[in-house]
Amino acid sequence: MTTRFLPTEWRDYALLDSGHGKRLERFGELTLVRPDPFALWKPSGDPRAWARADATFEPTGRTQGKWRSAPGTPNRWPLRYRSEALDLTFGLEMTKFKHVGLFPEQADNWEFLAANLKPGDKFLNLFAYTGGASLAARQVGADVIHCDAIRQVVDWTRTNMERSGLDGIRWVVEDALKFARREAKRGNTYQGIVLDPPTWGLGPKGEKWKLEDQLIDLIDVVASLVAPGGFVVMNTYSGIPPSALETMWSLALPDAAIEAGELCLRAQAGHDLSTGSMVRVTRNA
Ligand SMILES: C[S@@+](CC[C@H](N)C(=O)[O-])C[C@H]1O[C@@H](n2cnc3c(N)ncnc32)[C@H](O)[C@@H]1O
Repeated sequence: MTTRFLPTEWRDYALLDSGHGKRLERFGELTLVRPDPFALWKPSGDPRAWARADATFEPTGRTQGKWRSAPGTPNRWPLRYRSEALDLTFGLEMTKFKHVGLFPEQADNWEFLAANLKPGDKFLNLFAYTGGASLAARQVGADVIHCDAIRQVVDWTRTNMERSGLDGIRWVVEDALKFARREAKRGNTYQGIVLDPPTWGLGPKGEKWKLEDQLIDLIDVVASLVAPGGFVVMNTYSGIPPSALETMWSLALPDAAIEAGELCLRAQAGHDLSTGSMVRVTRNA
């Protein structure tokens, strides 16, 4: 069986069911239906649960769409993540890109960070979005740099940091590859680095990010930023197989131990839903 990285500590989020190209998920007080290209089977839960959802995302184009919500459904609401190691609170919002400001499968990485970072360790989150990994690293005392190209997304993360009772994250609104190159030039290294590069994106000065063109440069420069004994967690939602990520990282860091697999969500109704490919790369001390 392929290695599956699965979050196991969620209390306030659940993948209730999946199938027919959709997921049925509970995010705290709201139940949502969202499209998912890998939910290729038939749903196996109670069909009435789908009909009772508070909101359903309906695509209007390739990347955007609209939410159809039951009357009185809030557009913004809070969600808490509690485990033995972490207690984080996120503000969620129904966006026109089908996302709600949180990728729940990433909770498995948050636990990995909590288990592998110590107070004072340097941690870098590239393509950091609303900052789940930044918050988890900060909560266990790491010195955190959070880099994303979009100012509004960074502001959203700042609110998540405050809701979680944290402070002291350093914000960098910049093209991730540019920032990583600058850090390499300065000779900086990190105990932990997380990166989740999208298929395409834009830096704040219009720098074009295209995964297939720049991935190998990004991996090479990030590899040079990993301290001895440090680690990289990289995932992608872009369809690159785990074995390809493993090959690229084994070439970039031949002395590293690598775990590769799929980042998944386990549905209450039984199936594992793959959300993307992932590697965890740990350098020898
Ligand atoms: C798939 S999301 C990452 C989700 C994240 N792993 C999480 O768990 O919250 C990709 C992020 O990359 C950012 N981004 C896109 N192009 C970028 C670039 N050139 N430099 C830095 N960030 C970029 C987007 O603003 C977005 O927040």
